[in-house]
Amino acid sequence: MKLFVLTALIFGITDAVNVNITAAKGGSGVTLNCTGTASNYFQWSYTPPNGDSSQVQNATTSDYIITNSRKVGQYVCAQAGATLVTYNAMNLTVPVIQHKGHSITLYKNDKNRTLVCTSYSYPAANFTWRIVSGNVETMLETNTNYLINSDGNGKSVLTILTVKDTTRGDYVCRVTNTLGTESSSKVLVRVHSTMAWMWPLIGIVAEIVVILCIILVVRRQTIAQQKEAACKVPSATGAQPNSADHPDLRNRAAVRT
Ligand SMILES: *[C@@H]1O[C@H](CO)[C@@H](O)[C@H](O)[C@H]1NC(C)=O
Ligand SMILES: *[C@@H]1O[C@H](CO)[C@@H](O)[C@H](O)[C@H]1NC(C)=O
Ligand SMILES: *[C@@H]1O[C@H](CO)[C@@H](O)[C@H](O)[C@H]1NC(C)=O
Ligand SMILES: *[C@@H]1O[C@H](CO)[C@@H](O)[C@H](O)[C@H]1NC(C)=O
Ligand SMILES: *[C@@H]1O[C@H](CO)[C@@H](O)[C@H](O)[C@H]1NC(C)=O
Ligand SMILES: *[C@@H]1O[C@H](CO)[C@@H](O)[C@H](O)[C@H]1NC(C)=O
Repeated sequence: MKLFVLTALIFGITDAVNVNITAAKGGSGVTLNCTGTASNYFQWSYTPPNGDSSQVQNATTSDYIITNSRKVGQYVCAQAGATLVTYNAMNLTVPVIQHKGHSITLYKNDKNRTLVCTSYSYPAANFTWRIVSGNVETMLETNTNYLINSDGNGKSVLTILTVKDTTRGDYVCRVTNTLGTESSSKVLVRVHSTMAWMWPLIGIVAEIVVILCIILVVRRQTIAQQKEAACKVPSATGAQPNSADHPDLRNRAAVRT
């Protein structure tokens, strides 16, 4: 309020120009233009939206370059105390649905599973959620199986009350503010039945059982062979077919002949 009065007194009230500063990152800035005739002396003031006080800067050029897309807020260019132009610098950040990997896997009949979408933009963006299939979009705001909670501060949480077969699909989160609309990339939500979740486990258990059986059979055979060999050693003459498989037996046989 105080700021507004101050602004009104010093600069007078003019229509603000909305400017998109989304591209103001790194080297590529966004240029604000202030053309005046009184002199080559300009005064730029910047007021951030968070209530911090304005920063005033004198300049001899009519351009002011914003190099940081976070520096949203109001920029005023004045000459001799009179406002020449007021800019509302805004940004709109492409929203992101948080997930790991290529898709999100949910299990049928699970309750209250959530997807989170973020877009830190100024002015704070409105969020909407859709399931997209080709050209067909299903609005989730009016679907009773979903709850949407947006905190008005860059984050929206979609709650799926009960995971069903119809929960499956490509989800998109969309944000809108004064600058326009941006959509997140599609995130595939898969729905697995509880049995499907158990199949890999059953597979592993079955594999272990098979391996154990093989080990058991091999051990039995080896023991049987060793017993057989042990029984035949005393009468061995070197002609046993078994002896070829056992170097120690073969050696003994060699010694005897
Ligand atoms: C804002 O600027 C960004 C980066 O240049 C651009 O991608 C986006 O389309 C612009 N948005 C609007 C609404 O002009
Ligand atoms: C600034 O204003 C000048 C003169 O009106 C114009 O030629 C130029 O394109 C403007 N620059 C930007 C970045 O708007
Ligand atoms: C800008 O110039 C005015 C007038 O010369 C001066 O009073 C003020 O201190 C200057 N402000 C800054 C930030 O340099
Ligand atoms: C847009 O501005 C907000 C401040 O409101 C900031 O938190 C966010 O990081 C900015 N976005 C980008 C892409 O810099
Ligand atoms: C799911 O969330 C809703 C709304 O917050 C709540 O009423 C319900 O009790 C929750 N269900 C479970 C199983 O936690
Ligand atoms: C955002 O949503 C609020 C409440 O639904 C609405 O009043 C406002 O006009 C919306 N803003 C935009 C830019 O769509």
